[in-house]
Amino acid sequence: MSRIVYLNGDYLPENEAKVSVFDRGFLMADGVYEVTSVLDGKLIDFAGHCIRLGRSLSELGMKNPHSNDEWLAIFREIVARNAVTDGMVYLQVTRGNPGDRDFAYPSPEVEPTVVLFTQAKPGLADSPAAKTGWKVISIPDERWGRRDIKTVQLLYPSMGKMMAKHAGVDDAWFVQDGFVTEGTSNNAYIVKGNKIITRALSHDILHGITRAAVLRFAKEAQFEVEERNFTVAEAQQADEAFITSASAFVMPVVEIDGAAIGSGKPGNVAARMREIYLDEMRKAAL
Ligand code: PDD
Repeated sequence: MSRIVYLNGDYLPENEAKVSVFDRGFLMADGVYEVTSVLDGKLIDFAGHCIRLGRSLSELGMKNPHSNDEWLAIFREIVARNAVTDGMVYLQVTRGNPGDRDFAYPSPEVEPTVVLFTQAKPGLADSPAAKTGWKVISIPDERWGRRDIKTVQLLYPSMGKMMAKHAGVDDAWFVQDGFVTEGTSNNAYIVKGNKIITRALSHDILHGITRAAVLRFAKEAQFEVEERNFTVAEAQQADEAFITSASAFVMPVVEIDGAAIGSGKPGNVAARMREIYLDEMRKAAL
């Protein structure tokens, strides 16, 4: 079945949506994106994704083409037109098509290119992987220095995912100056006793929307939260590990660089946080 995608105000069959070869998203990776989950036909943490979109755009000196209410209407329309029950909405805003290639930004009159599409993932919240957990390898973090901006510059994360695939595992954790930054497309955590440890926010990592919610729920559930750096060796000695992202929610990590973490099985804290996150987010979904 052909999807209906959104392009600059129009809802079109996917094979009719066309973007210029001069679009700066294509030539310069000059664009930002958001991935928002849909469960039971409703948007998960829409407000959080909207706020981060605004921040990414402003950090790159781009105007936000829509108000939050307009974005919500577009998101709801694309979900409805594609009859998505469980899955994701992908949104991308680029600096548009100036009509030629130039390193300098075009004048602000050039309209941004706005694209949305859906990805149906029936049973997204019941992923069998949540029961077995992910295995990860560590690799050097060779991304650019502004990972807090959610740009479409995803080549190194993509290379990382391929390194993980070739190693026969599920994902890679990036390491910079001896400390884990994050996963290829998720934030990374370890658990020691009652304590959940994750790297503090800075330009080094994406400020995960799922991370913010999970840390809030963790504190409410009386877990101690420590935002600090940790090494791969510390992760290997931890009781548990997990990752968070809008598409994987809370996913246990059971092995890093061939060493089992804790019992080598998904831990109770990760399971609990996944349950709380999904319950609370379903209740607040729009
Ligand atoms: N990735 N860190 C990185 C590098 C990411 O790409 C992502 C999200 C996260 C988690 O952020 P959030 O909780 O807001 O999804 C952390 C999305 C899911 C993706 O690229 O598909």
